[in-house]
Parts: sequence; structure tokens; C-alpha cells
Amino acid sequence: MKIMSGNSNLPLARAIAAYLELPLTDAAVRRFADEEIFVEIHENVRGEDVFVVQPTSYPVNDNLMELLICIDALRRASAKRITAVIPYFGYARQDRKPGPRTPISAKLVANLLTEAGADRVLSVDLHAGQIQGFFDIPTDNLFAAPVMAADIQARYGDQSLMVVSPDVGGVVRARSLAKRLDNAPLAIVDKRRDKPGQSEVMNIIGDVKGRACILIDDIIDSGGTLCNAAQALMDEGATSVTAYITHGVLSGAAVSRVTNSALKELVITDSIQATDDAKASDKIRILTIAPLIGEAIRRIADESSVSSLFD
Ligand code: R5P
Repeated sequence: MKIMSGNSNLPLARAIAAYLELPLTDAAVRRFADEEIFVEIHENVRGEDVFVVQPTSYPVNDNLMELLICIDALRRASAKRITAVIPYFGYARQDRKPGPRTPISAKLVANLLTEAGADRVLSVDLHAGQIQGFFDIPTDNLFAAPVMAADIQARYGDQSLMVVSPDVGGVVRARSLAKRLDNAPLAIVDKRRDKPGQSEVMNIIGDVKGRACILIDDIIDSGGTLCNAAQALMDEGATSVTAYITHGVLSGAAVSRVTNSALKELVITDSIQATDDAKASDKIRILTIAPLIGEAIRRIADESSVSSLFD
């Protein structure tokens, strides 16, 4: 088995390799003067089971192209099996046609990965589970929930918890976390979004008064959804609001929005490499999912069960 990395999140790739007690495959992913991407693998991969770690986060298109070119290089170097390890799958939110004459870009990205030569995909908390069905190759979707639940039990386990979904679409994810927290009660923020990039909290379904609320979502992008939800929960009498979000996209002014929000803390994972701003914020904490991904890789390589990781 070999672990290779693009430039998107080297610290995560190194941590995964360390978990597996393997060196990272010696390869260079470079840019020509005009920004074309060039990949050169400096060791033999013929007949190898290769895992390429590359979240397709900002800059999304560059990172995606790097991943496609890495896969092409591996295929032409006769790797036996290539698994695209995409901890954060960019374009996942474009998983349906929101209107006439619009694309389904998540499906296009799935096609590109398959066409480049990926034999399998491994991702974490896909925005919508059905994106697995966009691939005709095996696709494993891991959940960060066990890592989050352990952290919540350790930090907030002594409080009267309420798990909160920031929108109706996130209820299944929130319910699954609540189950892991000794069946904590569930509330839902009924959010209406008028325009893309703007969010508005309408009302809270459930009684959050006197509760330490745990907001759970897959993505924090502009931070609007979460910060508005946190304020609405505090207005309804929550004692504190902490957010656990798998993918810290954190674009634009998101970090300062979070820092100045009613949130007690934002906990994200390292599926996306955090910016210096995010690392410097005393409201943002990062949990690693390297052991989770490393263990899934080990099981894929050994052909043992991945789903039992979540029992
Ligand atoms: C949407 O369905 C996602 O689950 C997130 O709630 C959304 O992407 C967060 O975006 P923002 O942080 O920009 O409000």
C-alpha cells in the first residue's frame, strides 16, 4: 500500500501516513510558469494499492485538477488500484438542478474522477449521501460523528445537552449524533435562505431553554447559517451554543464572523487545512480525523469492513 498526497492538505496526509506507519510516496506536484500542474512520481508504484489524499477545498479547481493529474500519473505508472481520498469533496453542494439550465457539478466531478482512472473513492461526511450514487466505482463515506461525540462527552458530557440541526436538511445527521450522546434530545432551526450566501433564522423547533446546545452541520462556509442559528438559540434561552462542523470551508469573513458571534466555540476537523486566521482564533478548535481515515484505508487495503468503524 502507498499513500500519496497533493498540495491541498499535506499535514493531514502526513498524519494519515504516520497512523499507518508508512512514508508518503515520494512525488512532486509542481506548477509550470503559466500555472499548469505537473506531477512526477519518484518511486515505483507498479502493482501497488495507492491512496491519494487530496481534499478539493479552496482553491477548489486547482486542487481538483491536481488530484485528477495525480490519478492520471499513477494510472500510467501501472498502479494496481487507485483510491481518491477526498476528505472534503468540493462541489458537493451542487448535487441537483436548483433551476432550469443549471448543472449538476457534483456528478460532473464524479465523472472526471472516474475518467481520470480512480478505482475507488473515500470521503468524509459527503454533503448528501446520494452523491455516492454519482459514482459507479466503490465509494466509502466516513462520518466524523464518532470523533465529535467523544469530544462532546469529554468536554460537555456533564451538561444538559440538546443537539441542534441548523436546518431541516441536517436532521438525519443531528439525530445520528444525538444517538451517540445517550439519545440527547433534538431541536431544529427552521431557516429560510432568501439569496445564496445569505441566511435567515426563522424559529426554533424544540425547547432549548436551559440547555447546552450542540449545533452540528457538515460545512461552515460564510458562517452565516451557524452564527444566526447560535444567536437564535441564545435568544430562546440556551445556556451555551457550541458548533461541531466537519468541514471548515470558512471563506471570506467567516473567521471574524465566528469570533464575534454568540458561539461559545466552533469545533471543526482537519479535513481542510485550516488557515492561519482560523488557527489564531480562540473560538476555533480543530479535531483530527487522520486516525479515522487511516483506519478506513487500512481496512480497504485489508479488504475488511469499513462500516464496522461506526458500530
Ligand atoms: C448547507 O446545506 C450546508 O449544510 C451548510 O449549512 C452551508 O453550506 C453553510 O453555509 P454558510 O456557512 O455559508 O451559511
